[in-house]
Parts: sequence; structure tokens; C-alpha cells
Amino acid sequence: MSQKDWLQAKLKENVELSRLNTLRVSASAQFYVDVTSLDDLCDALAWAQLNEHSTLVLGGGSNLVFAGKFSGLVMRMQIAGRCWEQVDETGATLVLGAGENWHDSVLYAAGAGYRGIENLALIPGTAGAAPVQNIGAYGVELCDTLVSVTALDRESNEVVCLENADCDFAYRNSLFKRWPGRYIITAIRLRLSRQKPLQLGYQDLKEYLGDAAARDLAALTVAEAVMAVRHRKLPDPAILPNVGSFFKNPVVTREKFQGLQAEYPDVVGYPHSGTVKLAAAWLIDQSGWKGYRNARVGVHNRQALVLINHSCGTGQDVLELASDIRQSVQKRFGVELEVEPGIVGG
Ligand code: EPU
Repeated sequence: MSQKDWLQAKLKENVELSRLNTLRVSASAQFYVDVTSLDDLCDALAWAQLNEHSTLVLGGGSNLVFAGKFSGLVMRMQIAGRCWEQVDETGATLVLGAGENWHDSVLYAAGAGYRGIENLALIPGTAGAAPVQNIGAYGVELCDTLVSVTALDRESNEVVCLENADCDFAYRNSLFKRWPGRYIITAIRLRLSRQKPLQLGYQDLKEYLGDAAARDLAALTVAEAVMAVRHRKLPDPAILPNVGSFFKNPVVTREKFQGLQAEYPDVVGYPHSGTVKLAAAWLIDQSGWKGYRNARVGVHNRQALVLINHSCGTGQDVLELASDIRQSVQKRFGVELEVEPGIVGG
């Protein structure tokens, strides 16, 4: 397709994005395109470059806060495709197009009897967004199974394959988050196993599974347990619009943790490579925010880490609430909270 035909067929102007972000805040894209192939992506980037527009890659919109209009081109990644590679008696490699729905892919893999990502069931968003924040839950992170990422490198304009070690993964962090805009992920590869031990140590999961936790469960049974546990505590974005955890769990020195413990014996923290990862939810909860709501936005009443858009809140409303929470946690505990989702526009 020539660039002109492509423009006519695909490019849209002034597109409302409230249905395309799980916080359901109103925002518009000056230009918008659905990207369903690598060719689409290259055409979109060429057009944006020619017209000097900035670009934004949108996946499921489940980890973004739109603080206003996006002046530029929004490219919604919808590259589909699921296939198995290197299938042997121990496991198989699952290749997912960046636009595949993450949760559906988890059920697909677990349903086929493969282990590795079942604890990541119900995390909203797309496969291509999963490596960006290195999604994690119930003792498992994406980087535990990720083999490689295929991406368009905007510096060289070439398609590159980044191995796990190249991706610089850490807790809710990666090369893609540290270097925004450089790589556009088109596919991911995960090594899944038929035998590897299930990760059932997380307290909520242990309690839910009871004695069953000791047995050899099917991956799909674990995925279903994770879904039940998440349903109990985390709001469904389709009912209470949210972007999951709004803050990262802050990492502090052991000395700082001991100081906090002396004053607040119940403070929740987990050892984390010589430091301590604090439960941000506990800090926010103890600061009195759990269940708080104003006319438009609030804090979930079962998980204080999650901010909710109750009624026509804007991205700015949510960010103001986040700022108030950060200030009160800082004042009370001397701990800095870092916002987890990306902030766009405004
Ligand atoms: N807690 C409170 N008040 C609350 C909620 C929790 O005091 O309102 C306490 C709990 O009692 C517990 C501790 O905080 O002792 C940790 O709570 P939880 O087990 O719910 O986990 P989390 O650290 O708050 C993290 C992830 C979640 C993930 C869960 C389960 C981050 C930022 N969040 O939450 O991820 O589902 O662990 O593994 O790491 C997400 O990223 O969107 C997300 C939901």
C-alpha cells in the first residue's frame, strides 16, 4: 500500500481514548492508528517522522494515566499471533504477538498444560506491554520465563532480538521503561515447562488452595486460584476503573526498616537483595487513605495501592490524589512513593 493509501485507510484524527484506557479518563489523540503488522508500524513511524509528530505506543491502556490531550500519533499495538516453538518433552516456547491479550494467553498456555505464567493470570494489558514493567504477582515475574523480545529499534530502524539478559529486568522495571521510546516491542518469547515446580508460596494463594497446595496441581487450576484471589482483593477495571497498583513497593535500607519497626512494629517489609521492600499498601492504609473517596476519584477499599476513577474523574484528579497520598506517607513514615504507571500528556 502506498503511504497515501495507507493514510486514507488507517489514520484517524481527534480520537477519544477513554474506552482505550482502563482508568477510563477522557483524553484525545490528535492522530490515531491501529497497528496490526510490522509494515503498519513502519508506515506509521515514517508518517510521524515526515510530519514531525511525536508518537505513543498504546497496548491495553492498563498502565497509563492520560493527564490531557496527546498531541501526536497514538499507535495502538494489535499485532496478533500465538505459536509454539521448540516443543519437547520438558516444555515449549510460546511466541506471542505484541497485541495478544495477556490474560487470554495465560489461560491458553496453562490450559495446554504448560507452567510458568499461571500466577500472572488476570493481569490486564497486552503481551507486548508485559516486559515494559516486568509484570509480576504471587511470587512470579515475567522475567522468570521470558526468553527474548522482538522489537523495532528506533535508533537503528532495525528489528532486533533482545535476549532476557539484554532487557535489564528488575522489580517493575526494564530496559524498555528506562529508555522510553527507543524500542517498540512486536513479539515476546516465553519458555514454559511441563514439570517445573509451581509457585504456591504466596500467603493469599496458600490460604486459598489449603491442603491442595501440597499436591501436584494443573497449571490451569493455579491460574483459576489466582483469579479467585485477585477477584477478592483487586477491583475489576470494567466495573471500577483503575490501573492496578498505582505505586511501586518502595525499597529502603535495612537500617531504615529497623527504625520504622521500632516505631511501627506491624510495618510490612520483605528482604530484597540486602535491602527491604516495604508494602506500599500498608503505608497508605496506615495513613488513613484506604476507602477514601471524593466526588470523582478514590482509593480502593480492599487494596490501598489501587486508585479508582469513581465518577468522571480526569487524569489530573487521579494524579492530585496520588500526590496527596505521597505527601502524607512521606510525612508520616519518611518514605518516598514512586508512581508506577506511565503518565501521558498534560
Ligand atoms: N496491605 C495493607 N493494606 C491494604 C492492602 C495490603 O496493609 O490495603 C498489606 C497486606 O496485609 C500485606 C501487604 O500489604 O501484608 C502486601 O499486600 P499484597 O499481598 O496485596 O501485595 P502488594 O505488595 O500490595 C503486589 C503487587 C500487585 C500484586 C500483589 C500480589 C506491586 C506494586 N504490586 O501488591 O501487583 O498483585 O503484590 O503479588 O508490586 C499491580 O502491579 O498492578 C498489582 C496489582
